[in-house]
Amino acid sequence: MVGFNKKTVKDIQLSGKRVLMRADYSVPIKNNQVVDDYRIRQSLPTIKYILEQKPAALIIISHLGRPDGKPNPDFSLLPVVKQLSQLLAQPVAFAMDCIGPQAKTAGKITLLENLRFHPEEEKNDPQFAKAIVEATQAEVFVQDGFGVVHRAHASTEAITKLLPSVAGLLLEKEVSVIEKAMAEPKRPFVAVIGGAKISDKIEVLNKFIEVADAVAIGGALANNFLAAEGIKIGKSIFEKDLVHHAETILRRARAEEKSRDFNFFVPVDAVVSKSIDGRLSTRLVDLTSNTLADIEAYPKKPATTAHSVAGDELILDIGPLSAATAAGAVKMAKTVIWGGTLGVTETRGIAGAQAPFAHSTHTVVEAMIGASNNHKNKPYTIVGGGDTVAYVQSENLVEDFNHVSTGGSASLDLMAGKKLPGIEALLDKHTAKPVAGGAGTHR
Ligand code: 3PG
Ligand code: MG
Repeated sequence: MVGFNKKTVKDIQLSGKRVLMRADYSVPIKNNQVVDDYRIRQSLPTIKYILEQKPAALIIISHLGRPDGKPNPDFSLLPVVKQLSQLLAQPVAFAMDCIGPQAKTAGKITLLENLRFHPEEEKNDPQFAKAIVEATQAEVFVQDGFGVVHRAHASTEAITKLLPSVAGLLLEKEVSVIEKAMAEPKRPFVAVIGGAKISDKIEVLNKFIEVADAVAIGGALANNFLAAEGIKIGKSIFEKDLVHHAETILRRARAEEKSRDFNFFVPVDAVVSKSIDGRLSTRLVDLTSNTLADIEAYPKKPATTAHSVAGDELILDIGPLSAATAAGAVKMAKTVIWGGTLGVTETRGIAGAQAPFAHSTHTVVEAMIGASNNHKNKPYTIVGGGDTVAYVQSENLVEDFNHVSTGGSASLDLMAGKKLPGIEALLDKHTAKPVAGGAGTHR
């Protein structure tokens, strides 16, 4: 049985109350402007719902980036407040600090400055949580920062011991959608996992080997699997100390392939170049040396360069065969979860040309959104992981997926079946927890 089992804003009295809402407004900023406001827009339903209940005040707290416990203007939430008031079409006040005399609230809505300007936030310090409550005179806490609930911080955990704490609508939606897809997916269920680092994805890969019908991997993460298979990867990025994890995952995946109808696709070809910037020539390498011979070399062996990455080359995308295989699996799927681009999509094409290492991601995305299939089969699609969302945004494809998560690690942890401290700490839907200092207020 799946279902969101925490109380939400809809289960609690908000009218006349001072409501403290935690959002995840950790958004990219450039020249004091919000570059990507997806997380801000996704918080609007909760804000609007709270305002409709006529609270005495709505006070919003968030972190932005990793300022390491010190005030730093580069990490100020000031650009966010401008964007937020624009999106809400009403003024939002800004307080220069989240505790102490500067944490002044004004008008209907106030956003407080970056929580992480104080080292106590990330230490889950109860005194800091208390200082936030005292400064804001908050009476109810709403957790809506889905992207940060995998952290046990003062604003995700300690604070829930001081105030009745419920979920916002974004948090509820994220958890319900992701948990349902993992627990009761319409099959075939395919996971496409890429991105830079295997360290972020070990648990989720293990989970997908258990529950999915196929897993296709790509991105620099796949390099660890190639290295585990003894394939030369030249200068490609990989995590040397973690190759043994790739080995273990691969062994499990191959065993699973024998025991049931399951496929684990490791790239069989790759796009390589000596430079990541796209200005040097690229080559296609057949990683599995499937080439028995080529016409010119026959009956001699083909040039070894055709099936090996040279010592000074980097794998920057999975090759067209691998992309076609992944896209083929996606085209037959009813549910697809995607986390991590399959190549270096950030490298721009020269003079408006297609980005040179984005071809495979493009191919697989077309399959996900039904574009390569005349829209005959459009699987139910979930996108997670921060960088992937940035790609989807930059391609203007947010509307083409069923769910684009605002969480990076939080969505991966949830998929992996982990308990997230910021969710665990909220009031259970059915049993009333005592609050404000009562015994056993917390797990
Ligand atoms: C994120 O962007 O991943 C979240 O905002 C959490 O940030 P963190 O990884 O710095 O804790
Ligand atoms: Mg993160």
